[in-house]
Amino acid sequence: MTQQVGSITDRQAVVLDLTVEHSEQAQSEAAGRTADDAAFRADVLAGLARTPKSIPSQYLYDTIGAKLFERITEQPEYYPTRTEIDLLREHAASIAAAIGPHATIVEPGSGAGEKVEILLRALDRPRGMVPVDIAREQLRSVARTLSSRHPGLKIAPLWADFTQPIELPPAIAELHPRLVFFPGSTIGNFMPDMQRRLLRSLAELAGQDGALLIGFDRIKDETILIPAYDDPAGVTREFELNILTRMNRELDAKFDLSKFRYEARWNAGDARIEMYLVATEAHQVMVAGELIEFAQGEAIWNESSHKYDDARIDGLAASAGLTVDRSWSDERGWFTLALLRHKT
Ligand code: TRP
Repeated sequence: MTQQVGSITDRQAVVLDLTVEHSEQAQSEAAGRTADDAAFRADVLAGLARTPKSIPSQYLYDTIGAKLFERITEQPEYYPTRTEIDLLREHAASIAAAIGPHATIVEPGSGAGEKVEILLRALDRPRGMVPVDIAREQLRSVARTLSSRHPGLKIAPLWADFTQPIELPPAIAELHPRLVFFPGSTIGNFMPDMQRRLLRSLAELAGQDGALLIGFDRIKDETILIPAYDDPAGVTREFELNILTRMNRELDAKFDLSKFRYEARWNAGDARIEMYLVATEAHQVMVAGELIEFAQGEAIWNESSHKYDDARIDGLAASAGLTVDRSWSDERGWFTLALLRHKT
């Protein structure tokens, strides 16, 4: 069956067909472009009209953004990826035992797909794997790698925005139990209310007999946190500024990148890193036909990265009708993997 290739932002998730050649896909992708652009434009204009100005962070992950993000994870100061991968490796056997046999994994925001490999190798006869991501080319290559490494596994790459409800393809939906794997402390990139709603919908996706394995970056000293989100090599800065380049390219915006600087701030009260692009001088910018005003020092709040302790993890789980069944943390107490299940 050839699927209808639409746009991701018209709320249609698409199961990628790995048997279709890249050029054919590129053509159908072009058809979905107009709807994508319209949603991007509407979200950007709405965000820039707000105080403080903000842009939904999923727009950071275009093809260039996804590549820059991979480079962030390789920076020596960016500890979360390494810490979580080490945790997974070290506790793979006990994590796999806690999950149990015959699991089907759904991974929202699968990215480069490195972490799930560790799980798949440790799990007892996993049945299926559904990587879900908005970065389409990366998703395609992850799915290809998975299918070559795990010939018996049912793989259904879902090109979708996981902040929208995820509908599983029928061949996968019948497989039980399911594990929703949500590493990287991605949950922390959402505001608290959205974290709860997202967790609730992921819990529903896991199903009553399913579980969720979630990565939480822990509260730690600012002297470790800030360099992780503002690396000396400037990769994070480049990643955050790329949203301006993307608007210039796709929305005919006229941002002058030299008039913005990147800043990561630690907000201790709300336990989060806040990432800003700050206007270094007062100026106006044309964006999609509208004139946007920036005062000197005014910021675009690009993203946040919330940090956790046990009480915050328990509280969030409870607010979504879940409990922490088991958890694994590293010796330094920098990162936690928590296995959540429905309250019975
Ligand atoms: N979940 C990651 C984190 O909060 C991803 C992330 C989002 C990120 N934006 C970032 C990492 C900017 C580094 C810099 O750490």
